[in-house]
Amino acid sequence: MASFFAEPRADPDRPRVCHGTACGLAGATPEPGERGAYCLGYCDRGPASLDAAGCARGPDQRELDPQPAIRALGPALVTARVAAGDCSGLEAARAAGVWQTLEQAVMRPARDVLDAMIASGERGRGGAGFPTGRKWQACASAAGPKVVVANGDEGDPGSFVDRVLMELDSHAVLEGLALCAFAVGAEEGMVYVRGEYPRAAERMERAVNEARRAGWLGEALEGSGFRFDVQVRRGRGSYVCGEETALLNALEGRRGEVRLRPPYPTESGLDGLPTVVNNVETLVNVPWIVGRGAEAYAALGTHASSGTKALCLARGFARPGIMEVPFGTSLRQVVEGHGGGGRDGRAIRALCLGGPMGSVALPGNWDVPVCYAAMREHGLELGHGGIVPVLEGDDPRALLHHWLGFFADESCGKCAPCGLGSRRALAMLEAGAARRDLEALLEVIAAASLCAFGQRLPATVQELLVGFGDEIFGGPA
Ligand SMILES: Cc1cc2nc3c(=O)[nH]c(=O)nc-3n(C[C@H](O)[C@H](O)[C@H](O)COP(=O)(O)O)c2cc1C
Ligand code: SF4
Repeated sequence: MASFFAEPRADPDRPRVCHGTACGLAGATPEPGERGAYCLGYCDRGPASLDAAGCARGPDQRELDPQPAIRALGPALVTARVAAGDCSGLEAARAAGVWQTLEQAVMRPARDVLDAMIASGERGRGGAGFPTGRKWQACASAAGPKVVVANGDEGDPGSFVDRVLMELDSHAVLEGLALCAFAVGAEEGMVYVRGEYPRAAERMERAVNEARRAGWLGEALEGSGFRFDVQVRRGRGSYVCGEETALLNALEGRRGEVRLRPPYPTESGLDGLPTVVNNVETLVNVPWIVGRGAEAYAALGTHASSGTKALCLARGFARPGIMEVPFGTSLRQVVEGHGGGGRDGRAIRALCLGGPMGSVALPGNWDVPVCYAAMREHGLELGHGGIVPVLEGDDPRALLHHWLGFFADESCGKCAPCGLGSRRALAMLEAGAARRDLEALLEVIAAASLCAFGQRLPATVQELLVGFGDEIFGGPA
């Protein structure tokens, strides 16, 4: 355990300096004696750092407001409350209607909630885009006690919407998780918050305590037999712990390594019990869907991806922040229209979409709609929806070094192709190896790795090489 996680080995008195994709492109590198972090969730305003007291600071060392600029193109299902301000306390949450949907839902059969989620077509926002209702159905059908888990690990450099939701709309995350528990028949829930988000963990802990005192958690809800309680657990510095089976290992007190699948968590998850793991943003959609109906939700977005997506626009845009758009909106509309193009009028050369397991989208691909299916048809992955622009004047070689450094640092080491290959790839770049040799190694890693980290990250690097390889290596392979 101690040798696996980064935090037990780090000096807690040292500040953490973000050198994630957005802050790194802005020139941030940790000085000797400082702790590096691949993302602190302030990609819109970095370079950011986190002091020993857990306070996030901007480039001028001033404390950063947790709330970024938040805009919506059409209905705001996920961001309406956080756009209006801090809704993390119970009173503000109740005034905004949080817990109302659960109150009404528990008076009807649990099957109604499950059916609404299936009919809504909502897809999980954690990256894979798996249909939420189908996942819940698989867990509900399994025998024995069940567990539900909110995945607040948000490790993709470039994404910060889960941080904002956990810090400013904490009760909505809990209500979504409680509706999930009701639908699948679970009495136990967990919220896993990454170690780099101490304020999100505090806010979630406070919300759990408030919800217990108000009777939403802990005791059976009045007039219904539904009883549910939640624990908040903090991560200890591991990107791969966002992968659901690694996350379950971490919750069980083991090394955060990926498990072989099958069995899937819905059959055998936390402590062997059928478990649903859902992303934070996925869960915040749930009260809206159950409260307003699956039909209203499915009417938004595309046939393949219903609803909206809260995209995170990094500091390289003229108008950074969170932009909630209906699925189907084109990438170009998002980045050139609503994002305002590049910062300080600089041209955008490419978009790093969805972090290390996402895609590098060149301008020829920006007319593709934001939609899991349409993007996959064009070889693009949306991931968790973070968008970091590569601007004119940015150094693509530094970006390549960043991705390979991330790969080597964050691989969980369970399988050799990724565990050893990632370090070898970084060493090759640093030693000035030929592009074709690096590409050959990446191909083997992608083909032979166990989980999406080792399978996808080489593809992201390859896409970067398609766009910028000549510039990085001084000519074609
Ligand atoms: C290496 C790796 C890291 C991941 N990190 C996260 C993460 O930080 N947050 C998240 O919600 N999902 C993450 N996922 C996806 C989860 O495994 C899982 O699919 C997701 O939590 C399921 O929730 P959803 O159906 O609501 O998307 C990651 C997957 C991989 C392979
Ligand atoms: S591909 Fe990488 S992250 Fe995934 S199991 Fe293998 S070593 Fe771990």
